[in-house]
Amino acid sequence: MQRMISAGEHATDAVEEAMAEVEDNLETGRFVVGRGGFPNSAGVLECDAAIMEGQPGRFGAVAALRGVGTPIRVARRVLDGSPHSMLVGEGASAFAQDQGFSLDPDSRMLSAPTAAAYLEFLQKQKSVPGHDTLGENVISVSSSGIPFKAPGRVGDSPLPGCGLYADQRATTGDGDKIMSYCPSYHAVQLMKQGRAPAEACEAVLQDIAERLGTDEGFEIGLVAMNIKGEMGAASSLKFPYTFWNFGMASVEKCIQNPVTWVNLSANQQQ
Ligand code: GLY
Repeated sequence: MQRMISAGEHATDAVEEAMAEVEDNLETGRFVVGRGGFPNSAGVLECDAAIMEGQPGRFGAVAALRGVGTPIRVARRVLDGSPHSMLVGEGASAFAQDQGFSLDPDSRMLSAPTAAAYLEFLQKQKSVPGHDTLGENVISVSSSGIPFKAPGRVGDSPLPGCGLYADQRATTGDGDKIMSYCPSYHAVQLMKQGRAPAEACEAVLQDIAERLGTDEGFEIGLVAMNIKGEMGAASSLKFPYTFWNFGMASVEKCIQNPVTWVNLSANQQQ
């Protein structure tokens, strides 16, 4: 992505390429992104992905898409080539085929570890906790959603204002809860009012904690970037994640970057 942007290529092309590379990698699927992700409760991989341009404000998304290892590329086709903004399920698959994508059988969508995890799920009939999503600022998101979700379930990732917003904001965590709060939109508004990215992320979590009115909380991680390219992040309940920006050598290194842990329970008592 850095090479493409440095070469003057369009930012939307760069984020699509970077996201598609991760999505199509069976190994990175275990981070709940694209091919190799965790299947739903019927054993089928269904992916959500979205791409958004802040100026002038364009959006394309797919949800519960089956059989495509690079859902972000289908979301990009929705952005550029569909009169609609979001296509789901069979409609998304049909659109992908119309656009020249071939639909892979389930056997090519799961990795050995995620197929084994599904067998374990069937044996134990209990879900493996964890939500993950890959977000890129300028901005796209992609997720295979919570492991062993109900067929047709759509998370926060492809919803504007929830999993992403404009070119400045990405969210991950428990999408079924996150989508009630439009946290991505909220954080962008706070940054427009002058808050630094990390402050905006923390304020959004604080607001959610107050609105929840309970100390149970849920998994949510927020990453924001302002128009100066400054990044910030916050997460709840020790929900670990990393972010990477230009100039950082590796994702491993950015684990060292400041991440503010916000304990919703502690906030509630303040
Ligand atoms: N945040 C990803 C999901 O819940 O689908």
